Amino acid sequence: MDNDIEYNEALKKLKTYGQEQVLDRYNFLDDNKKQKLIKQIKNIDFDQIQELFIEKDKKIDDKACKITNIEYVDKSKLSKEEYERYNEIGTKIIQEGKYAVVTMAGGQGTRLGYVAPKGTFKIGGGIDKSLFEALSDTIKEAREKYNTSIPWYIMTSRENNNATEKFFEKNDFFNLPYEDVKFFKQGELPMLDTNGKLMLDETGIIKLAADGHGGVFEALSKNGYIEDMKKRNIEWIFISGVDNVLAGLVDPIAVGLSVVNNTLATGKSVVKRNPSEKVGVFCKKNGRPYVIEYTEITDDMANAKDKNGELLYGESHILTNLFNIKALEDISKNKLPYHSAFKKAKYMDKNGEIIKPEKPNAYKFEAFIFDAFESLDDMSILRVKREDEFAPLKNAEGEDSPDTARQLYINYINRKNK
Ligand code: UD1
Repeated sequence: MDNDIEYNEALKKLKTYGQEQVLDRYNFLDDNKKQKLIKQIKNIDFDQIQELFIEKDKKIDDKACKITNIEYVDKSKLSKEEYERYNEIGTKIIQEGKYAVVTMAGGQGTRLGYVAPKGTFKIGGGIDKSLFEALSDTIKEAREKYNTSIPWYIMTSRENNNATEKFFEKNDFFNLPYEDVKFFKQGELPMLDTNGKLMLDETGIIKLAADGHGGVFEALSKNGYIEDMKKRNIEWIFISGVDNVLAGLVDPIAVGLSVVNNTLATGKSVVKRNPSEKVGVFCKKNGRPYVIEYTEITDDMANAKDKNGELLYGESHILTNLFNIKALEDISKNKLPYHSAFKKAKYMDKNGEIIKPEKPNAYKFEAFIFDAFESLDDMSILRVKREDEFAPLKNAEGEDSPDTARQLYINYINRKNK
């Protein structure tokens, strides 16, 4: 009886939005799946879905906004006094246990052609270490150096959460204390077909996909980890992706710079290698911090030079950003904009057949972490050395591949051990 009521309520909601096709396979589902589907329908914000579809092709109108370059501080060019001042402030905060690290590991290693969680990928070439282990080494070293605890929050997705947790268990959490390593799943949004209709996944319920790394703020909050940070008196949180094996996760200079500049965030940058490198760049939009993605920058902007002959928009965003807890909390309360991507997505049709499309057939919606920067009045930018802090692992071959990341990692370790 209750089931009938729930079914009818779900149907009513779907009819209001022209999405009844979602129940096409309902009678073929087992009870567990039936309940899951009804729950999905209850939880989906259909107004938001409609809006996402209408706005899917909307591009940022840069003509209507004023884009200017952003000021930065070059870590390697700080005077001895400046360095010591920032270092002293940052070190004290880290030593007092007020620093945490978040790793975003919810993405799929599609470009890398790797099916397991990307963090479990072995660096290789004689280095018997996964990306997760390399990152855990950085945290362990800092814990020892500063004689403190540094909680590590790892964002996973529905698809890779179990495999990620099992990997940590199997590796005994790389000897980090269990209570200082937490996993949380990022949010999801339905994928839409070219008519704006919800689709079914291979099991016959609504097809959902990860909502982008910008979902990190909401997911931290929903899972109670902002509260957890507050209980632990955490003040500064470093957030980066899982795929940069050299990410400088624990950086007193970045903290000191933010404190002295009175900003609630610091983004680390490296000099853009050339105008066409596939990285976003820091800039200001209408006077506020912003990142223009490599897919969105115009040729003119990409090639523009400053008076010293350096690229005007040359501070690459390397997805390693530090936030004050106040900023994290504020951002988590507001929705970030979603970017749409047209992708190939397997689905179940109304006859129960699994369709594997050869061409893109569905829209995926993702929020980007850097869209949060605009809500900050200002942020500090710390230019760091590429060879010390940026070894991305994105593609199976060529640039930003296991080969290049491995070499950068080996060079770094050799320099450090000299
Ligand atoms: C990203 C940045 C780009 C930056 C470059 C540096 C975006 C959109 N762009 O590009 O500005 O210059 O890195 O290397 O991010 N992730 C999740 N959940 C998701 C999606 C991604 O956790 O839903 C994680 C991935 O696991 C990965 C990281 O975010 O660790 C980066 O995502 P990816 O989509 O690979 O970004 P890029 O296109 O490489």
